[in-house]
Amino acid sequence: MILVTGGAGFIGANFVLDWIAHEGTPAVNLDKLTYAGNLANLASLQGDARHIFVKGDINDRALVAGLLKQHQPRAIVHFAAESHVDRSIHGPGEFVQTNVVGTFSLLEEARAYWSGLAETEKAKFRFLHVSTDEVYGSLGDSDPAFSETTPYAPNSPYAASKAGSDHLVRAWHHTYGLPVITTNCSNNYGPLQFPEKLIPLMILNALAGKPLPVYGDGKNVRDWLYVGDHCAGIRAALARGKPGETYNIGGNSEKTNLEVVHAVCAILDELHPAGAPHAKLITFVEDRAGHDWRYAINAEKIKRELGWEPTKTFAAGLRETVQWYLSNAEWIRNVTSGDYRKWVDLNYGKR
Ligand code: NAD
Ligand code: DAU
Repeated sequence: MILVTGGAGFIGANFVLDWIAHEGTPAVNLDKLTYAGNLANLASLQGDARHIFVKGDINDRALVAGLLKQHQPRAIVHFAAESHVDRSIHGPGEFVQTNVVGTFSLLEEARAYWSGLAETEKAKFRFLHVSTDEVYGSLGDSDPAFSETTPYAPNSPYAASKAGSDHLVRAWHHTYGLPVITTNCSNNYGPLQFPEKLIPLMILNALAGKPLPVYGDGKNVRDWLYVGDHCAGIRAALARGKPGETYNIGGNSEKTNLEVVHAVCAILDELHPAGAPHAKLITFVEDRAGHDWRYAINAEKIKRELGWEPTKTFAAGLRETVQWYLSNAEWIRNVTSGDYRKWVDLNYGKR
């Protein structure tokens, strides 16, 4: 049994599905179901006793303590977070509450539970903290990629809240001996991603014939990793990672935002042709405040020590992703409700 937090969100849901498919052992899934959490992501597990869903907040200490006592998990895999940089610019409070205070709450309950385990269970227990490359800040065009020893320099409220959570996780190992592992991953894409993030937003806008809002000059660079590869990396870190260590996970796939948007448009031109090329919808809009220029990951450590590396090329993963959105109109209808439209007005209305 493992306890997953945030398992109704994009990566968490992909992970729960992947875990049950690969490991076949049960997972308790604690998720608050914020705007980003969606039980439809887990519809294929309905009636499967290996998935136990619990709606709740990681800050609800009594709930977390009760779940740990009842299910006696051998690991906690912690995804729950506010995850969107633009939302953190409009309203940073929730980011501190969930990402920093929530991780603190979870660490404290994990520590209490772990302290009471028998020695053999104690040695096997893991707290796996899922984090981001954004904690390292921003790179120039010719800087070397982020490694596990790159100093932290978070720039957005989101990145700062994740950096804070990483520091807490580190300290709970150093001070209390809690067997933690942290993974810092680059930009994920794939099925089930909420359409506030670049790739699904561009797919949905293009399908609706709406402008494709590219921030600034579109030359910022991100390293893209297919979500299934990220899930495999987390499973490797859980199985073979060393307590107290951090592992960078990346796709070896740096692209400018414009390259990504043009690639989405080219796939749509082929699979879902409109009267004119979709790229005609590209519109340059006001830049994101404090926009990080470039992220790149050196993922040599996890390859060398745990035998993990990405398996899917960006071209193949992006095509599958576009195909998934084309085949899941009902899912799209459900997530693009009134609240979503309010977000679009707030973030893009004045750009
Ligand atoms: P997401 O926003 O899609 O999902 C977050 C999930 O957490 C949602 O299901 C939400 O309901 C849940 N949640 C939020 N606050 C909660 C709380 N207080 N208690 C319980 N549940 C809560 O996020 P995602 O993109 O799937 O990211 C998951 C994790 O991976 C995050 O920690 C994020 O920082 C990290 N990460 C994301 C990426 C990426 O590209 N998306 C890359 C690297 C790391
Ligand atoms: O690097 C890992 C991080 O990647 C994760 O920790 C975050 O949770 C995840 O949201 C993601 O952060 P980014 O800010 O890089 O992702 P986003 O999809 O929001 O934006 C990707 C790039 O595209 C970024 O340079 C901003 C740009 N962009 C984004 C949006 C939403 C646009 O040009 N237009 C847009 O409308």
